Amino acid sequence: MILLDPDARPVIGHRGNRAHAPENTLPSLLEAVALGVDAVEFDLHLSKDGVLVLMHDATLDRTTDAKGPVASRTAAELRDVDAGARFSRNGRDFPWRGKRVGVPTFDEVIDALPATLPLIIELKTAAATSMLQAAIARHKLAGRIIVAGFDPESTRPLRGGNVALGASQPEAAGLVVPALLRRPVAASWYHALCIPPAHIGIPVPVGAIVRTMRPHRIPTHIWTVNSASHAHRLWRKGVNGIISDDPGLILASRSGG
Ligand code: G3P
Ligand code: CA
Repeated sequence: MILLDPDARPVIGHRGNRAHAPENTLPSLLEAVALGVDAVEFDLHLSKDGVLVLMHDATLDRTTDAKGPVASRTAAELRDVDAGARFSRNGRDFPWRGKRVGVPTFDEVIDALPATLPLIIELKTAAATSMLQAAIARHKLAGRIIVAGFDPESTRPLRGGNVALGASQPEAAGLVVPALLRRPVAASWYHALCIPPAHIGIPVPVGAIVRTMRPHRIPTHIWTVNSASHAHRLWRKGVNGIISDDPGLILASRSGG
């Protein structure tokens, strides 16, 4: 169950085109698509009325003009907050403020994205898992998604099913790095690793992980990689996917630009 060609060095837009547009919003995701990404990654929470919505944090404070828990607002109310309010590249200009960019629902995003685009969907709460399972069936997404989560409980109900699962970090797989290297079959229900290059301040031995995972046909995707030199270092180690806030930069670098 390999979603992205591991030999093609797939480039994945992290929360869309996050370096240039407000994360986890429709414009950000569509910008990433326009750049030619191989996949987009985004995060899910549940609204007060039980609707899947795109949001990284459990609260609205960091990215919108509103405050408080995402789960304290209905999907309709979340559509009306300004999800572009706090985006700035230099701390002075806020080009997306007041542009009516709201918090999108999962359904809106699926309807707006190209029908065959691969997706890495990160569950930020295990409370959203059953809603996601229903949405996967409704939109017939099983063959084009990796579902990931830091909390293993969030993806546990999907184990053994027809959906590819990703481990968001070594711990998520019950795999602190030494265990991962000793006993990679512990990850047998995972189909991809989506891991950072360092974990709690300790560098992750990416090359060793790649070599260990390869015979098990588990691709390694690394987040979050925002420079061409870093991407090239990882590619030299055999890393498959690069998850980047600035996917255009990585795409240009991959093609020799
Ligand atoms: O799924 C990989 C990556 O997105 C996890 O980090 O904090 O951006 O959700 P975060
Ligand atoms: Ca994420």
